[in-house]
Amino acid sequence: MRTHTVPGIRSSKVRDGADPLVMITAYDAPGARQAHAAGIDLILVGDSLAMMVLGYDDTLQVTIDDIAHHTAAVHRGLRASTAEGPAPLVVGDLPWMSYHTGAGDAVRNAATLVRAGAQAVKLEGGRKRLPVIEAIVDAEIPVMGHLGLTPQSVHAMGGFKVQGRKHDAALALRDDAKALAAAGCFSIVLEGVPDQVARMVTESVDVPTIGIGAGGDTDGQVLVYHDVLGLEERIRPKFARRYAELGTASTEAMRAFADDVRARRFPADDEAYHLSAEEAESLSLYGAPAPG
Ligand code: KIV
Repeated sequence: MRTHTVPGIRSSKVRDGADPLVMITAYDAPGARQAHAAGIDLILVGDSLAMMVLGYDDTLQVTIDDIAHHTAAVHRGLRASTAEGPAPLVVGDLPWMSYHTGAGDAVRNAATLVRAGAQAVKLEGGRKRLPVIEAIVDAEIPVMGHLGLTPQSVHAMGGFKVQGRKHDAALALRDDAKALAAAGCFSIVLEGVPDQVARMVTESVDVPTIGIGAGGDTDGQVLVYHDVLGLEERIRPKFARRYAELGTASTEAMRAFADDVRARRFPADDEAYHLSAEEAESLSLYGAPAPG
């Protein structure tokens, strides 16, 4: 399977002439195949799995086993994909508490995601994560950073709030990004920061930044699968442009199915299997109807 590579992604700076990177979350085999067919560069098996798929209110509820389970499904989906062009690079999201308890745990958990099919891992946080990032990179596992609105810090931040709005916080974000790049991160997600801050951070590092709710001047954009397809009803952040309304379409399709069953319109004759005339005739001795 030909795939996008970490060195290829790492060198994708828009200021050097690269096209913006496109990343989407995916959590299963069909989503992965769709992303490949759509020419997406990176798939993030995000811990947003918790909210988008598993019905939780925040991302703190998923475990390394959950992310590994879904990373493996994404990997199998891409392996079976018949789409042309390089497959998206698969990034497994390290969930809360999988890297907060020390570098040894972090490396072991990152390896679990690699063995499930990830080519890189992502983790949240700035300079305080440097020892963990260095240990994972030292184990030959590429790391994507994640700064700004980091959902695993929802309680510490007092909610899902835009970060870096004040002078000092913006400069701290820029310094975090520089430190992450120096520690070996091959790219950095910038989530929920003012666009001017995202631009400043993007200019200050030589690895690509991938924005979500961070304006148009990053080196790439990431959105959540369920937002792009209009499958998420509970939360509609303003940056999450919906390119389809599959949630509504799904409900309408299921309602039509239910109506057809209740009105005896489903299944039709050509949606059923039939015996040969001879077998039907033989069974009619036992009360089965003859074909016709
Ligand atoms: O888990 C996720 O979906 C993410 C993206 C929002 C970047 O971390």
